[in-house]
Amino acid sequence: MAETITIEVARYRPEQETNPCFQEFQVPFTQDWVVLDALNYIKDKLDGSLSFRWSCRMGVCGSCGMTVNGEPKLTCATFLSHYQTGTIRVEPLKNFPVVRDLVIEMSDFLDKLQRVRPWIVEEDDTAPMEAEYLQTPEQLDKYKQFSMCINCMICYSACPVYGLDSHFIGPAAIALAQRYNLDSRDHGKEERLDVLSQHEGIWDCTFVGECTKVCPKNVDPAGAIQQYKLDATKEWFKAFLKPWSKK
Ligand code: SF4
Ligand code: FES
Repeated sequence: MAETITIEVARYRPEQETNPCFQEFQVPFTQDWVVLDALNYIKDKLDGSLSFRWSCRMGVCGSCGMTVNGEPKLTCATFLSHYQTGTIRVEPLKNFPVVRDLVIEMSDFLDKLQRVRPWIVEEDDTAPMEAEYLQTPEQLDKYKQFSMCINCMICYSACPVYGLDSHFIGPAAIALAQRYNLDSRDHGKEERLDVLSQHEGIWDCTFVGECTKVCPKNVDPAGAIQQYKLDATKEWFKAFLKPWSKK
């Protein structure tokens, strides 16, 4: 008989449960299966009502983030073999409201992303673009690391500051703001700084660094926040010493 592993899954079906509970399933223990494969096995063979998000199954879309044995993970990149035998507990990402089973409510995160304007802000957005804005490899290197973010929200789930105060704009939004600030084609740095220098922006971060430790794409949001703090401090001194120099 094939070896099996127990997957303990958080269930929350608002029409039948007032509080989340756990349900156990036995799943084949297959060396090359990831946690997402186990969830799909449950959905296909054992209980079609289990709800969870996923799409690409290759660490690109950012939709399969969940808490696996207490840690925020991309379930398509987390192998069952990492846990050997025993029980694997799968829960929704922490710090977000749960809609159903393993599905979280994302609108707070999407709103925060929107606020930092994660796109290239043109100097004059009424003038039509006349040509491609090319980047040299050196220019690309400046922001490439931050552009790897896949919006998986794993850093928000690990962030104790966001867990205590959901007004904090959070790690990925700041990392994405920095991605565009470092792009030579962008003119939105001042507008972003206006958003991020507010109380719930960069200054709320106490530099715990968990965001950088858990990021599956090595984005380093903690580094972006520290760079931003430095920039904001420089701007403050500049405005204090030469008030006329600020546009
Ligand atoms: S910074 Fe990393 S952990 Fe945070 S959303 Fe982007 S990819 Fe995910
Ligand atoms: S399914 Fe797309 S990142 Fe996991």
